[in-house]
Amino acid sequence: MPKHIVRLLGLIAVVLVVSLLAIQFMTAESFYRFGPYRADNVTEIASLETVYQTPAYCKDCHSERHAQWSANSHKSVTCETCHGPAKGHPEKGKLPIPSDTAKLCTLCHEAMPGRPSTQPQIQVAQHANGQSCNTCHNPHAPKIVAAAKVSGDPAAGKQRAAACASCHGDKGISPNDTWPNLAGQPAAYLAKILSAYKSGAQKDVAMTPLAKELSNADIQNLAVYYAGLSCDAPAQSKVSGDAAAGKAVAKNCAACHGETGVSSNPAWPHIAGQQPGYLVNVLKAFRAGLRKDPMMAGVTRGLSDTDIANLAAYYAGQKCRSPK
Ligand code: HEC
Ligand code: HEC
Ligand code: HEC
Ligand code: HEC
Ligand code: HEC
Ligand code: HEC
Repeated sequence: MPKHIVRLLGLIAVVLVVSLLAIQFMTAESFYRFGPYRADNVTEIASLETVYQTPAYCKDCHSERHAQWSANSHKSVTCETCHGPAKGHPEKGKLPIPSDTAKLCTLCHEAMPGRPSTQPQIQVAQHANGQSCNTCHNPHAPKIVAAAKVSGDPAAGKQRAAACASCHGDKGISPNDTWPNLAGQPAAYLAKILSAYKSGAQKDVAMTPLAKELSNADIQNLAVYYAGLSCDAPAQSKVSGDAAAGKAVAKNCAACHGETGVSSNPAWPHIAGQQPGYLVNVLKAFRAGLRKDPMMAGVTRGLSDTDIANLAAYYAGQKCRSPK
């Protein structure tokens, strides 16, 4: 046999041996266990323990998270998609909390060709501005509700507002430290919150009975009226917290309420220049779960009473932005 044919056969033999070895060593274990030879493993597969539960399993012990998740639209992403299998939990220990949401959420949401259109996509670099996703999105209820359009008649609103002046002032600036100013708030927020009092989704001894009397048209008219008023008010005197310390904590609020309490989204309230006693009460209500909002629940959970007093002092002293 000519020499070059011998070499060629030798080479083919070496390649064959290397390939066979490579198959042995380089294929994942699971390929043999459950890959193309599943028929042999049916009994083994059937005998495996289920490590995943369902979201219903978490409901009794983590009712707050379960309720947020149930009310939102992230339904195809179950608890264990993010927290891992819950078999043995809580007896055998806590489940992990994903620490890097930018990584977790980007797994499914970074825009890529061929991804299903039912899974909303974003250009992460442009969308999040380097912040982690849970700065603005509650992972358990990530949908951010767009501001509803409000169209009302401010003159009719002004007439209706006579009934509100005793507590909110005749120009929307409240005479009392614990009652909120309404002047200059975004109309979409005012309409939303009045509808929440009317429906009972939010409760208050003073506001609930008053709001039940309002028609939907009244709500639109009042929202447009108060949104158009100047929010300039005399400087607050009843401030007890430390505004400088409050400013440091307020970094956690800037993504939604702006650096100084002027919010970026018309569905969210401005808090600059708001009454300090009202700010304290409301933050405590969010913290205790008495006033419910998926975004505010997360940010207030870790606040101490001192933090709250300081935040109130900081925001009450900021300049509000009056409508042009
Ligand atoms: C029988 C009650 C029970 C059930 C059911 C349960 N958990 Fe828990 N879970 C606990 C307890 C107790 C802790 C420990 C809380 C602590 O020590 O702060 C915990 C801790 C956690 C933590 C970590 C919290 C932390 O602060 O570190 C996560 C995440 C978690 N559970 C997720 C889940 C998920 C997801 C499910 C459903 C698949 C679930 N749990 C079902 C009782 C339960
Ligand atoms: C396993 C894939 C997956 C992961 C991880 C995931 N999502 Fe989603 N997300 C989806 C899908 C699918 C939808 C479409 C709604 C549905 O079917 O649940 C969605 C919907 C959304 C929406 C739009 C909701 C709406 O109704 O408009 C937002 C906002 C969102 N996700 C944010 C996040 C954030 C923030 C995280 C990280 C904390 C995250 N997602 C993690 C798959 C994922
Ligand atoms: C899209 C991913 C995702 C899903 C789905 C999800 N979680 Fe979480 N969960 C997180 C992240 C991220 C945190 C970290 C804290 C935060 O931002 O709220 C967390 C925190 C928690 C904590 C502990 C928070 C704390 O501050 O001590 C519990 C308990 C928990 N989740 C339970 C649940 C339960 C129950 C479900 C299902 C009903 C669920 N989670 C669904 C991502 C998720
Ligand atoms: C500074 C606040 C902010 C941060 C940080 C942020 N988002 Fe958003 N996101 C928003 C707002 C506001 C909307 C709703 C308005 C809109 O549709 O653009 C939104 C919408 C979305 C949607 C729905 C888009 C659609 O087409 O319905 C997805 C998905 C989403 N964000 C994912 C993420 C992920 C993943 C991260 C982290 C990498 C993230 N977001 C970080 C503010 C933020
Ligand atoms: C008896 C006093 C009183 C009267 C009268 C009153 N309010 Fe209120 N209002 C309050 C108090 C107190 C709160 C704060 C409630 C809370 O903490 O939930 C409030 C809250 C509000 C809020 C929410 C403000 C925010 O920043 O979230 C709006 C909007 C509002 N009132 C509108 C009205 C309108 C419109 C009327 C007239 C139809 C009216 N109120 C009459 C006492 C009153
Ligand atoms: C992820 C967005 C987000 C972040 C971050 C956030 N908020 Fe809010 N905040 C909201 C939304 C949305 C509402 C309206 C809730 C409602 O409709 O009940 C709100 C309402 C409020 C209110 C009630 C205002 C009123 O007029 O009734 C106060 C006070 C407030 N936030 C303070 C803070 C403080 C202080 C921080 C930081 C510790 C903070 N928020 C962080 C979104 C956010």
